[in-house]
Parts: sequence; structure tokens; C-alpha cells
Amino acid sequence: MNIQSLLNEKVSAAMVAAGAPEGTPAAVRQSAKPQFGDYQANGVMGAAKKLGCNPREFAQKVLDALDLGDMVSKTEIAGPGFINIFLNDQWLATQADQALADTRLGVATEATQNIVVDYSAPNVAKEMHVGHLRSTIIGDAVVRTLEFLGHKVTRANHLGDWGTQFGMLIANLELHESRGDDISMELGDIENFYRESKRRYDEDEEFAATARQYVVRLQRGDAYCKEKWEKLVKVTLEQNQRNYDRLNVSLTDKDVMGESLYNDMLPGIVEDLKAKGIAVEDDGAQVVFLDEYKNKDGEPMGVIIQKRDGGFLYTTTDIACAKYRYEHFNADRVLYFIDSRQHQHLMQAWTIVRKAGYVPDSVSLEHHAFGMMLGKDGKPFKTRAGGTVRLADLLDEAETRAKALIAKKNPDMDEAEQREIATTVAMAAVKYADLSKHRTTDYIFDWDHMLAFEGNTAPYMQYAYTRVASVFAKSGVDRDALEGEMVIEHEKEKALVAKLLQFEEAVKSVAREGQPHLMCSYLFDLAGLFSSFYEACPILLAEGQTRQSRLRMAALTAKTIKQGLALLGINTLERM
Ligand code: ARG
Repeated sequence: MNIQSLLNEKVSAAMVAAGAPEGTPAAVRQSAKPQFGDYQANGVMGAAKKLGCNPREFAQKVLDALDLGDMVSKTEIAGPGFINIFLNDQWLATQADQALADTRLGVATEATQNIVVDYSAPNVAKEMHVGHLRSTIIGDAVVRTLEFLGHKVTRANHLGDWGTQFGMLIANLELHESRGDDISMELGDIENFYRESKRRYDEDEEFAATARQYVVRLQRGDAYCKEKWEKLVKVTLEQNQRNYDRLNVSLTDKDVMGESLYNDMLPGIVEDLKAKGIAVEDDGAQVVFLDEYKNKDGEPMGVIIQKRDGGFLYTTTDIACAKYRYEHFNADRVLYFIDSRQHQHLMQAWTIVRKAGYVPDSVSLEHHAFGMMLGKDGKPFKTRAGGTVRLADLLDEAETRAKALIAKKNPDMDEAEQREIATTVAMAAVKYADLSKHRTTDYIFDWDHMLAFEGNTAPYMQYAYTRVASVFAKSGVDRDALEGEMVIEHEKEKALVAKLLQFEEAVKSVAREGQPHLMCSYLFDLAGLFSSFYEACPILLAEGQTRQSRLRMAALTAKTIKQGLALLGINTLERM
């Protein structure tokens, strides 16, 4: 049930009947205040202005042509020409009963699109750090939401698995192997292995020469180098997978589409861009000059796509990658969850992609940027010693903190259950803290806030769920076999039911805008409305029809919170 789009359709049709051109938007929104009704149509004034008639008179014509049947109890013209719409209680109750009976909670699927989502994208031989956390968490929530709406989603983990650094990594691996070292131990601390490789490269000229040779051999597809490279990729993937599994992120090995995948396409792309006159030679390098981007002297900015030594760049790979995603997956939309510092890079790559005609304009390439993760001091999030925080360490700390909290809250609970609850709460807290913020702003990582039981936090939402669930546990009523039907008898019931029916609007807005915080806000509001309802309208003390009705409202609330959190990749608990 999508009340907003239903009203949009009907009001828009009435506007056309009243003389507005076909397709004039009704701009129906949820009303900000109860006295303006449940929804408001804001498009009437703009349409009247275009038609050159009095907005209130035009609004009256629209109302005359508008038939909302039993959906509404009242419609009225307000202010300079808004239309306020008051939904009918009986109609709301019936819709909510239907949602409760439906495994999808009444959320309709959308016309299926092929959607590729680029997210996570850590680098080989480097630990995942907190910067990859945002991409992973936000991307995964959007993926789950798109799939729920019936889209065919391809998860693309654009692993950083290519580049000149592999020369030194292969040379270092070879060195350890020749010494008979325990390789799994050496690679166990992959970050350290990387640092060691770099140090040898900087300090040992012979090692550096070997490393440079290996880069060339690897690029030529040499079997010896390839085998070592594969080893490094495999170890990194195993380590990342442990993080994904802990975080309940839906990525697996199958989703890896690293930079190396596009390597064979790069010479052809450069040739083609030259042939099309888009790339030109400049001081031995192949460069695309873009009028859209000016350098500080006001001249078109040059984007290098092939260096003098023949090497390709990150941009070249992203040009090939966009082309591939369109051709190979027949993508309708490609969503990239990458931090905002890479915005210019992506825009340049895509400007070239469009100029070359690799991806038609009908396919949307979307950069869903996000800000940085900052410490409480407002500076980039670092360890006390000033290093980057390893993701695995961060998750460990979350678990330790959550464990202490749960133990304090439930001193009598046995240790194993405490631990299980703490793990679920910890992962949820880390994810929700990130998901609930507007994605584009920098985000301040604050343990105390994310683990608090008050406010828009994971523990609050998970606790809200267990509270509703406890209504059923206490009453011994099976919430999947409820009788009767909903009747709205109290304003708090109406507010709750109307919100429950806005679930689909929340799901769709996340899918459209790639902004999971919209779902968090929705769930937070829903939990608040449930609390007010719960205080004002006793459930178990009520009798007969009223009791049945309220139990049904509680059941739909529980299901909606559970489903909403599931779309965010967050688990619920029956008890905590
Ligand atoms: N590996 C890159 C990094 O760590 C992110 C890749 C993002 N995706 C892309 N198509 N460029 O910064």
C-alpha cells in the first residue's frame, strides 16, 4: 500500500480534468501537522499559476473532479491553495488488516530493473579499515532494499587488486617462500606484510629491480607471477569475508569484480578514444581534455588515461568498468557507494564514458557519496597511536562494550545468552550509527551514543522490537494467528496505523535515493508512535474487539520493525 502514490495519481488526474496539462505533478506529501490532514497536495498552486487562474478557484475545480471514495473522511482547501486530505479511519484499518495478512506487509514490487551496486571495494594486501566500513554498510542496506522491491541486483565488489604495488608484494612473497617461512603466518598480518614489502622496495635496490620486473611480467599474464598474485588476493578475500560475516553483510567471493577484471579492456579503450578524437597525445601520454573541468588557469583540465610508460590509471579502469556494467549486465542503473573525495574522479570518468557513447543517457550512473568517519574530536578517526583503525579491532571493541552493557542490564542472565545478545547488539550498533546519519555529511564515531538505549540508535530500535514482542509472550497469544479486525477508536491508534501504512513509502525512498537514513527515521518515528499508543491504549487489559484490534496493531508494528531492520541488515532479538 502506497498512499502517497495513490493520492498522487488521483489528484493529478483531477487536476487534468480541471484543465491542467497531462502529467502535471500533484506533489502530494505527508502533512507536517495534524491540522493539515494526513497528506497535502502542494502542486495545485503551481499549476494554477501556469494556467493563469486563481489558485483557490482552481483548487475548488480540482476538488470537484476528485473522487477519493471511502479513502478519505474529508478534503479541504487551505491557505493560498493547498489541498488537505484527511484519511478515513475505516479505510486505514482495512488497509492495515490487509498488510498484516501479507508476507510482504503490503509492499508492492516495482517494475524489475537491472541494477549494479558498487560497494565495499577494499584493497588487496591491505586490511579493511573504517573508511571501507561506510561503503560496505550503506551499500549493503540499499542492495537489500532494491532486492526486496523485486529488482535484479548485481553486487560489484570493485576490489583494488591491480597496480604496480603487486611487483613488490610478489617479490616479498617469493623471498619468504625461498626461506621456507610459514606463509600463512606471514600473510596473517597482511598489513604488516605490505609495509615490509614497501620497506624492502625502498631500501634494497636489487629487490626493487626484481619487483619492477614482476610488475611487467604480471601484466603480460606470466603464470609464475599470476600464481603469487592469486595467493595474495585469496588471503585478502578470506580476511575480508570474516568481517562481512560478522557484520551480516551479504557480499561473498562471487561478488568480487576487481580492477584486474578490466585490465584487458584498457588498450582497446585508449585506442578507441584516440580514434574518436576524444583522447590526444600530450607529452607522450594519452590525455582527454575536458571543457567541463577547468584547471586554475581556466583551461580545460587534462585527464590522463595512459601514462608515458604505457601504464593505465584508476580513471581508465573506471571508464572500462562503466562500459562493462552496461554491456555485460544490461544495467538500467549503476550505483556507486564511494566516499566524496572520489567525486571528481568519477565525474571525469563518466564524462568520458558519455562522450564516447559507451553508456547511453537512459542508463543512470549515480555516485552516492558519503563523508568521512571522524573521531569525537572532529578529526579523522584514528587509533590512539595515530594509525588507521582496523575494522576487525573496531568490531571486537564493539562486542566488548556491548557485553558489559548487557551484563549490567541483565545480571541474572547466563553468560552464553549475554554474549549472544551482545554480539547482535554490537554489530547492529556499529551499522545503525552509520546508516542513521545523512550519508553525505561527515560522521562522528561515538561509542557512547551508538550503544545508548535512548535516541535513534540500534539498541533503542532492537529494544522497541522486543517490547512489542513481549506483549505476545506475556499474553500467550500467537501473533501469527490473530483473529478479528482492526478498528480505530483512539487518535493514537490512528497515528500508529497511518505510519504503519507508510512503510512502502520509506522502502521506496531508500531505493530511489540510496539513503538508508530515511528508513532509520521512519522506524524511529514508528517506535515512538507505538510507545504513545501503548501508553494511551492498554492492550492486554482491553477486552473483546478492542483487544483483538490492538493486538493486531501491535503485531503489524512488530513485523514492520523486523522487516525494516532486516532491510538494513540488522537482526532483531525476542528478548534482550
Ligand atoms: N578501492 C578503492 C579505494 O579503496 C575504491 C573503489 C571504488 N569503486 C570504483 N569503481 N572506483 O579507494
